[in-house]
Amino acid sequence: MPPTETDETRKVKVGVPRETRDGETRVALTPDVIRQLSRKPFEVIVERGAGELAGFTDAAFEEVGTTLVDSAKNVYDSAEIIVKIQRPTDDEIAQLHEGQTVCALLQPLTNQENVVKLSERKVTAMSLDAIPRITRAQSMDVLSSMSTCGGYMAVLLAASHLPKFFPLLMTAAGTIPPAKVLILGAGVAGLQAIATARRLGAQVEAFDTRSVVKEQVESLGATFIDIEMEEDAETAGGYAKELAEDHIKKEQEAIHNHALKSDVVITTALVPGRRAPILITEQTVKEMQPGSVILDMAGEMGGNCEVTTPGETTVVHDVTIMSPFELPTRMPFHASQMFARNTATLLEHLAPEGELVFDMEDEITKGVVLTKDGEVLHEPTLAWMKEKEGTA
Ligand code: NAI
Repeated sequence: MPPTETDETRKVKVGVPRETRDGETRVALTPDVIRQLSRKPFEVIVERGAGELAGFTDAAFEEVGTTLVDSAKNVYDSAEIIVKIQRPTDDEIAQLHEGQTVCALLQPLTNQENVVKLSERKVTAMSLDAIPRITRAQSMDVLSSMSTCGGYMAVLLAASHLPKFFPLLMTAAGTIPPAKVLILGAGVAGLQAIATARRLGAQVEAFDTRSVVKEQVESLGATFIDIEMEEDAETAGGYAKELAEDHIKKEQEAIHNHALKSDVVITTALVPGRRAPILITEQTVKEMQPGSVILDMAGEMGGNCEVTTPGETTVVHDVTIMSPFELPTRMPFHASQMFARNTATLLEHLAPEGELVFDMEDEITKGVVLTKDGEVLHEPTLAWMKEKEGTA
């Protein structure tokens, strides 16, 4: 049957409101990506000024045929799917309407209440940080993109706070040895931190409890620290398992001497949904060289260093300890572009024919859809709700 005019013109209306959370500089869709989406069955509406802080002007959006609207309300009223970076606030949830879809970094393992509110609003909530870590979904993996930005920025920040050069320099004023950098946790952020520190000329050592990363660490020109661990800490999903207390103690002791030799320590160790493991004790900080820098990327999950103040830069025992939140917001142009490309790939996956289709048999869709038709589908949130009911 030939397509009807309606089929041909059917487009999914995607809305991008301005981000409202303090310090957020990124925008969820960028002009280059909107151009690509508009060749497919998508139409994009953007709130004026949404890309300003990331370096994307309203004119740049207009140039690619974006409809610009004056308020977030216009976006929420007319879009079928809202695409955001930060999870919606209560005010934003109130603007969503039944049957609408919202797609953002919902962080459901630590923000279960938000998930419940979205289900009560009867919206389809999709969490971009819940994309399964499978090869097919790699091009949609926002978390990897943001970790790449974070790992890079962590090294630049640490380098700018270190009173030393990173590279080996041979000058008329003598030879300056390269800085020594220790990276703990060699996931996406850690590997990018290794690569960046190496490009700046530092000598790099790294450790991760998942032994599979040893080869990746070495291929980037860093030395993998071998610590005898009784079990490999990798789960079937590729993430790390939480280690028993005695294992963590063993790791802290093994890392201690490496930290004392390092000018910079960058920690990225995370276990999904858990407090970050403490890998650097206060005693280690006390014995580190004065002027050294620890950049703790796990601050939002409590920190990998015992004396980190999450979100702050402090000096403890003459060591600068930095724990900046949301590192990708410091490089919003590329962070937005990567976020937008990943998200567009997911949108194309969900709506290849101009209509959003939630095939819950599909591994990717099943992974990202947390709420639908007033129901919570996300297992960990369901478990949290049950537990809450039990203690009420
Ligand atoms: P993450 O951000 O959850 O954790 C960071 C790192 O900390 C991990 O490498 C973890 O093993 C490490 N860690 C946890 N506890 C530790 C401890 N006590 N000591 C030292 N290190 C510790 O992980 P991320 O970076 O989000 O990804 C984890 C892995 O997932 C990747 O390395 C990769 O293998 C896999 N992945 C697969 C993708 C795909 O196939 N689509 C995409 C991205 C990642």
